[in-house]
Amino acid sequence: MSTLTSSRTWLALKSHREQFAGARMTDLFAADANRFDKFSLQAGSLLLDYSKNLASAETMQLLMALARERQLGNEIQRLLTGDKINTSEDRAALHTALRGSAPVMVDGNDVMPEVKATLAQMREFCNGVRDGSIGGPGGRRFTDVINVGIGGSHLGPALATTALATYGKGGPRVHYVSNVDAGAVERLLEGLDPATTLAIVESKTFSTIETLTNATIVREWMGPSARAPGSNQLVAVTANVRLAGEFGVAPAHVFPCWDWVGGRYSLWSAMGLPVALGIGMDNFEALLHGAHEMDAHFRDAPFERSMPVILALLGIWYNDFFGAASHAILPYDESLALLPAHLQQLDMESSGKQLTRDGDAVDYDTGMIIWGATGTNAQHSFFQLLHQGTRLVPADFIAVCKPQHTNTKSHAILLANFLAQTAALMNGALKDGFPGNRPSNSILVQQLTPHTLGMLIALYEHKVFVQNTIWGINAFDQPGVELGKRLATSILPEVEAAGAVTAYDASTNGLVNFIKAHQTR
Ligand code: F6P
Repeated sequence: MSTLTSSRTWLALKSHREQFAGARMTDLFAADANRFDKFSLQAGSLLLDYSKNLASAETMQLLMALARERQLGNEIQRLLTGDKINTSEDRAALHTALRGSAPVMVDGNDVMPEVKATLAQMREFCNGVRDGSIGGPGGRRFTDVINVGIGGSHLGPALATTALATYGKGGPRVHYVSNVDAGAVERLLEGLDPATTLAIVESKTFSTIETLTNATIVREWMGPSARAPGSNQLVAVTANVRLAGEFGVAPAHVFPCWDWVGGRYSLWSAMGLPVALGIGMDNFEALLHGAHEMDAHFRDAPFERSMPVILALLGIWYNDFFGAASHAILPYDESLALLPAHLQQLDMESSGKQLTRDGDAVDYDTGMIIWGATGTNAQHSFFQLLHQGTRLVPADFIAVCKPQHTNTKSHAILLANFLAQTAALMNGALKDGFPGNRPSNSILVQQLTPHTLGMLIALYEHKVFVQNTIWGINAFDQPGVELGKRLATSILPEVEAAGAVTAYDASTNGLVNFIKAHQTR
């Protein structure tokens, strides 16, 4: 048995779990009129209501004891102060430094001067693009920005751009290209003018084949002006300045990022450039300030009053003691439509591992399958399974009190559904075949602003960190994505070449040959 599953608190949680065999949340509410007050908390303008969970005060005490037994406090300190907690790559994980101000040392050097210099470089560039002093060929104002990137070089920025679209007035339209499926980039380019379009190539490594393929398509579409001396049409965000230069990006148009920031944690770096171009640098820095407020909450709040810790521990409770394999993210706000996709990478690329930081095989479940969609649409899609299926699917319901629009009637309907669903999942209606007793967390955001969006995303970053700390796994590497990439690189010439393929397993050979037989022009 691992140190985790043989620990006193883990074993206590296992026996505590048995008490919940027949427990019902409605009984927990009946037994304590103050359950909502005791199982909810505010951080800034966010409210977390975790009262609709299969958890008692004793449950929370045991989970908090587990966190302490796993040295969570020490690990949080190590994270925030730049210890090399990304053990497999011998790196720090300092996405929090990107939104801070106090000195943070990496290899004996304070990283804050270069963080601040990059923010200044972003501000100068964004101001120039937005006031027209930085423009396309012939000085024409940029009306459109294309961000070319994938994974963390896409999902976080696209989420922020979509969520904060109402803050985009006065700025260029921002578009995102990520998949190597050329249909997407071709459809986008059809409607744009190369002379008024700015392209950002976002790639920490500047070697991701999808990004380089799409960036080449966009660069060629722009024509020779894109690489002409003094051109502003092509910029890059990368840790590899040399490769960006070889691609045709002038050194002055390269925005740096660093190896101590993981891709899925990089929204706060210059990877946020498309967001800043769209909403303005002041609003982008408000996003950073919101994340910083959540960092301070994570640093200072006692575990029992810490939103990230509570979300993380409840996730472990269902994952490791109830066998729940997935967790649903259900934002009741179309502005947050891309939140589930961003959290999928953030959580599953961090937590989807079966070896501990010490290289030992785990004997417990780790990362959950993160999925979701916006409500109320989800109610007309998969809520049947949530209400009457055979599976336990814990869910986070997220809603905004004051919308970014003025239609109070529609918003009241949206909120009524948000409230009704968590109540129905908990209370059920046995006579109508609704078992109920299905847990959920409710997160209310007073108003969706750059600041509160920053808080919300940082909340989940820290939730993921807490879970990985307890599981003893490294949240900040992603070795699992390499094998598929390598195989794709070796299969690519087979797909492109003429003739039958026999070099792979029978399935791959059969599939490739079917493709070839049905691609004749
Ligand atoms: O999915 C693997 C991954 O390395 C992610 O971690 C990263 O966000 C994405 O690919 C893109 O990487 P890059 O920014 O280097 O192009």
